[in-house]
Amino acid sequence: MLNIQSLNIPGNIFLAPVSGWTDSVFRGICAEWGAACTFTELVSGESIVRNLSRAEPLLQRSPLETCCGIQLFGSDPQVLYRAASLLARFRPDFIDINAGCPVQKVIKTGAGSVLMRNPALLGSIVEGVRRACEEFLHGIPVTVKIRSGWDDSRLNYVECARAAVESGAAMVTLHPRTRAQAYTGTSNWDHIADLVSRIPVPVTGSGDLFSPEDAQEMFEKTKCAALMFARGALGNPFIFSATQALLNSEPFTPVEDAKKIETGIKQLEELSKIKGESLACREMRKQFCAYTKGMPGSAEIRGKIVHAETIAEYRDIFKHYPSPR
Ligand SMILES: Cc1cc2nc3c(=O)[nH]c(=O)nc-3n(C[C@H](O)[C@H](O)[C@H](O)COP(=O)(O)O)c2cc1C
Repeated sequence: MLNIQSLNIPGNIFLAPVSGWTDSVFRGICAEWGAACTFTELVSGESIVRNLSRAEPLLQRSPLETCCGIQLFGSDPQVLYRAASLLARFRPDFIDINAGCPVQKVIKTGAGSVLMRNPALLGSIVEGVRRACEEFLHGIPVTVKIRSGWDDSRLNYVECARAAVESGAAMVTLHPRTRAQAYTGTSNWDHIADLVSRIPVPVTGSGDLFSPEDAQEMFEKTKCAALMFARGALGNPFIFSATQALLNSEPFTPVEDAKKIETGIKQLEELSKIKGESLACREMRKQFCAYTKGMPGSAEIRGKIVHAETIAEYRDIFKHYPSPR
């Protein structure tokens, strides 16, 4: 159990926001497999204010999610205040501010990791969203997700985290790569350990978590209060149960290939209900490539998946796999 202000999160292993992957259906599956907390992918505050119904698919939560935060990005505290004020009907448990995205499309709007070049602005954004949470969202917490800094010469994660906390942030997630690194190289967990000792709110660690053993090592080395799987959970929602088992010194039987496929098909069916079969089949191609990674014949399977247009075609591709025991 992890408490952030009035919010009780029933565990400390989270699913990270991963744009293009962590839709409500996948998040629900991760929650079923033990993710204690999930985040929507980053959603533009501007887009919410301009056309809420268009942004809606990104804001919906799955009934299976126990604790889910909506992650917003933007550069204008007033716009983000207004965006947050419109979110009550999506029932978020908290609002997370993205100050880590390295993607040019986001940065050029003054949002994402470029906010780390202006800690005072980051503080004003947290303050604006905190006010909206108090006025419109029953006082749910505001959290932030940051990187180590812009580049190696500007490692200002402590300064940015403090600016956020002084403005009311109740938790800080640190992905300890710089903006310049994007997703290359390795993340520097020493920065997480350092931040844990420097701010008075829980720190969530992110970066290079691809196995339960990685998670155990991050907890031990950094003393972070929570951690989040990102790329390590794609096609592998089972990683949450496996990690919990390892941390509790309980046995965990690796999930069979047939169970992975069954889970992928379930995800596809649920997504079809929301988006229609055709779009769901297209969106699920990369997810199935992730589910089948490392399976015998996976290259051949992938060759078929990338052309699958219907649920029946997906079922046909996998018909030789036995049902899970
Ligand atoms: C394709 C992709 C999309 C991502 N989208 C988001 C996002 O929407 N919001 C966010 O805060 N982080 C996002 N991230 C960063 C992850 O949440 C995470 O911090 C990062 O991948 C490091 O963890 P990992 O090395 O275990 O993957 C994204 C990462 C990837 C690879």
